[in-house]
Amino acid sequence: MHVAREFGQRFKTAVEKNFDQSADTYDRFEERHHLFETLTRRQLELIEPSRPERILDVGCGTGISTLALQQAMAGSSPNIYAIDISERMLLRARERCGSLPGVYFIRGDAEKLSGYFNEAFDAIFYTASIFLLPGFAESLRQASHLLLPGGVLSISYYAGLFDEKGDDAIRKAFPDQKYQYGTVPIVELVSCLESLPATRTTRVDFRFEVSRDFLFDFLSIPAQSSGLFPKIPYLERIPRIRDFCDLLAKRVDPVFMGWEFLIARKR
Ligand SMILES: C[S@@+](CC[C@H](N)C(=O)[O-])C[C@H]1O[C@@H](n2cnc3c(N)ncnc32)[C@H](O)[C@@H]1O
Repeated sequence: MHVAREFGQRFKTAVEKNFDQSADTYDRFEERHHLFETLTRRQLELIEPSRPERILDVGCGTGISTLALQQAMAGSSPNIYAIDISERMLLRARERCGSLPGVYFIRGDAEKLSGYFNEAFDAIFYTASIFLLPGFAESLRQASHLLLPGGVLSISYYAGLFDEKGDDAIRKAFPDQKYQYGTVPIVELVSCLESLPATRTTRVDFRFEVSRDFLFDFLSIPAQSSGLFPKIPYLERIPRIRDFCDLLAKRVDPVFMGWEFLIARKR
């Protein structure tokens, strides 16, 4: 097997396992902080005036983005297809949205979209998922084929934690700490979107101040903490994350979380 493909497969297996362990903490984090709902709502605002009726939600997780999409479009009876690689995350998504008409969940790999869908979509959302796809370029290429003319790709990309000058907060507070969440550099993502045929891309920055408790809840999600302490079993990571957050809040004040929205419209 080609080295890059082998890395990609190993990365995907690790992501699936991490998210299978994450469903409970993920939903607890969201109940307190509403991050993923906020991201989805911003992504919807940014595609206005589009009012998509056929929507694909890629990496739907526990269905937070799916529900936000359904609620926002409820007046027009949308059809929403939502795909995720993690069975445990999907189980929650089905509980959250199961009784809603026109919402369909599929377990599958975001890098093989054309194997699952023949439908054409008005909008395809990647809410907090694109940076987890080693084969993001292939996923986007297939997504672009599934879009109708005038359709839109709406993406939120996690850019990291920052100080007030915009410098990397973790590098500043812990120069020796490796923290990598995801596998996709933003420059590669942007240039991939720009290379899609007949597509115009806009990029919008989103930064907001976060509290120590927000950081602790966020970094305690297994799929997050594995980016900080990959070799340590989950329960042993928790006290380390607590110390890490205490020190970070002392060394960098205020701390900002950064996201990038990328909106790519097909002509
Ligand atoms: C941070 S969660 C975001 C979930 C959801 N969009 C939300 O807003 O709450 C990222 C999701 O991407 C999923 N994911 C990661 N790699 C994937 C892949 N190759 N195919 C499908 N889903 C994937 C993970 O299982 C996880 O549920």
